[in-house]
Amino acid sequence: MRFEGKVALISAAGAGIGKATAMIIAREGGTVVGVDVEQAALDRLAADVASAGGRALALRADALDPAAVDGVVKRAVDAHGRIDILVNAVGGSTIVPRPAAALDELSLPEWQKLLDFNLTGTFLFTHAVVPVMKRQGAGKIVNLASIAGRGVSQSSSSA
Ligand SMILES: NC(=O)c1ccc[n+]([C@@H]2O[C@H](COP(=O)([O-])OP(=O)(O)OC[C@H]3O[C@@H](n4cnc5c(N)ncnc54)[C@H](O)[C@@H]3O)[C@@H](O)[C@H]2O)c1
Repeated sequence: MRFEGKVALISAAGAGIGKATAMIIAREGGTVVGVDVEQAALDRLAADVASAGGRALALRADALDPAAVDGVVKRAVDAHGRIDILVNAVGGSTIVPRPAAALDELSLPEWQKLLDFNLTGTFLFTHAVVPVMKRQGAGKIVNLASIAGRGVSQSSSSA
């Protein structure tokens, strides 16, 4: 039980890697605070964690909205007193219609949308959670990214 007694706040927890992370932490004794924009996905997360015998607080918020992020972090601390782990999982390239476009084919609005989606949520959650972790004197932050960031992928975002 690697996460016994730990509280983990996970963004994009309703699907994909964020949900898989939430399920692992919940199965291994952690308390999950799962954040997503999709209420139906959050409802499924809460039900799946409960049927796995875990504990989850599912909160709807847009990771790109500063007030919403601050509100979620406050609710997590009010409910559990601490945040031991932050997993920033919001991101990806399919937010634009042509995710595989080369740099010279990418428009400025597409570039800005990709940077915002991949970086701003991570900034906002980290900005809100670091003071909590400083007060505790401990904490772990995991930021997800894409292998495209290493320039290895032929088919995903140049941004
Ligand atoms: N899928 C992959 O193959 C892959 C590979 C390597 C890295 N990654 C990285 O892992 C992370 C997660 O990717 P994924 O494919 O599991 O995600 P995903 O596309 O499956 O989305 C997961 C969840 O994010 C939620 N979401 C979207 N925008 C949001 C917002 N603004 N605020 C809150 N929630 C929001 C969605 O509702 C969804 O439930 C990304 O950073 C991605 O770059 C993904």
